[in-house]
Amino acid sequence: MRWIMLGPPGSGKGTQAKKLAAAFGADHLSTGDMLRSEVASGTELGCSARTYMDRGDLVPDELILKMIAGRLESMSNGDGFILDGFPRTEAQAVALDKMLDTMKRSIDRVVLVKVGDEEIKSRLAGRARQEGRADDTEEVINRRLDVYRKQTAPLIAYYSGKGRLSEVVGERPIDVVYGDLKKLAES
Ligand code: AP5
Repeated sequence: MRWIMLGPPGSGKGTQAKKLAAAFGADHLSTGDMLRSEVASGTELGCSARTYMDRGDLVPDELILKMIAGRLESMSNGDGFILDGFPRTEAQAVALDKMLDTMKRSIDRVVLVKVGDEEIKSRLAGRARQEGRADDTEEVINRRLDVYRKQTAPLIAYYSGKGRLSEVVGERPIDVVYGDLKKLAES
């Protein structure tokens, strides 16, 4: 399994990636989780990234690519991986293709999790109440949605053009969405 989970903020990429990784023995690489850990540890990268994350903007490509390069290499020989929240720009997608080419690997599926804006806002407002994630405020959620539309949604055409895109309707209970993804993984 060498998958990319694509979708707007709050679509359930992380939730589903964790379940799939546990069931199929794949590594789960979430650039959002990696960045939050850098911020929490107060590293130089974390301090640079925080300004962008707090605004709902993307962290610059060069910082992201530097952060994931080693991780991707160490994961590529195991039982596969699920990339969650990466790539997020066309430049990141092109760089990922190059890195995988060097490792003589390729992505076998890109899954787009489709969820409408109203459901996203309601989910993230719920998470803000429960977990208090710094970027789950109304203003920052709107910015993240805008950034998704402008900078990440073009990847749908990028991967569709390569014949690797599958879509799932994410606006259903977690286990129902997972059931569809499991079928895709087993097909
Ligand atoms: P990141 O952490 O990737 O945030 P995101 O894309 O906004 O994703 P979320 O974690 O909000 O949503 P998700 O789709 O994973 O949904 P989840 O499963 O959590 O990135 C944060 C920031 O880091 C970015 O804004 C950017 O600044 C930076 N960054 C990260 N990667 C980058 C990159 N590659 N390049 C540049 N910058 C980068 O679910 C959300 C909520 O909904 C949860 O409460 C969950 O329990 C609930 N939920 C999930 N599924 C369902 C369901 N089916 N029904 C009901 N509720 C559900």
